Amino acid sequence: MTWLDLGNPRPRSEAQRYTPVHWPQGKRIPLQPLAKLSSDDSLFKRSFMDLAIRRRSAREFAPLPLDRLGWLLALANQQLACGPQHLGFPLTQRPSPSAGAIHPVHLIAQNLELGGWNRYDPMGHELVSVPGGPDVHVVRKAMDELVTAPAATLLLLVAEPGKTAAKYLNSDSLVWRDAGILLGYLSLAAEALGLAFVPLGITGEPWAGKLVDEPGLAGVGAALVGARV
Ligand SMILES: Cc1cc2nc3c(=O)[nH]c(=O)nc-3n(C[C@H](O)[C@H](O)[C@H](O)COP(=O)(O)O)c2cc1C
Repeated sequence: MTWLDLGNPRPRSEAQRYTPVHWPQGKRIPLQPLAKLSSDDSLFKRSFMDLAIRRRSAREFAPLPLDRLGWLLALANQQLACGPQHLGFPLTQRPSPSAGAIHPVHLIAQNLELGGWNRYDPMGHELVSVPGGPDVHVVRKAMDELVTAPAATLLLLVAEPGKTAAKYLNSDSLVWRDAGILLGYLSLAAEALGLAFVPLGITGEPWAGKLVDEPGLAGVGAALVGARV
């Protein structure tokens, strides 16, 4: 086999300024804040040890209510604090760690209720529709070949590698590791919320890179999530 050596990342002697991809401003769908979770929810009753030991991938899904989707996204990716902007975009703190606090991976959600593609806005804790983009039916058909789950919500992990490259040389492996850690957080958060979740072994290419009409995005993973059957 050939192992693709992505090189050893190291900070640039001088960070570059990066202009982020421009996402079209579609319809905004506010999500329930975590504060709205009922204290009766399983999230408050189970220890981390219980979650870590009992988490299992699931491959049968019922439709996911929007409030649960919001809580899942928040537990992995909501912006909790904002830092300096010298790279051309704010560094942020979120539940999952990210190399350089850059958080280059966007979460894109799609399901029957939402219809098309929707980007999670980690600052506003909202979904923002992404008009256009690749044909939803073509992408879902490709996902169905891995796990047949028409009722599930599809999450695409879509990286903006230029963000991490603004600070680091040989930055690609950092982006992949950020994507992996995000999948890990999502899988544990799904378990905590009593949801069915499975990562998918595809990157999301060639579709993820076509969500906007400009270069700069790359698919780095996908997952299915839903209510348990
Ligand atoms: C990066 C990654 C890709 C995966 N891809 C798939 C997939 O395409 N189809 C699938 O059914 N499960 C997929 N899985 C789930 C694994 O099969 C599952 O994690 C493994 O069997 C262990 O089971 P557990 O998650 O219940 O511990 C993937 C998991 C990871 C971490």
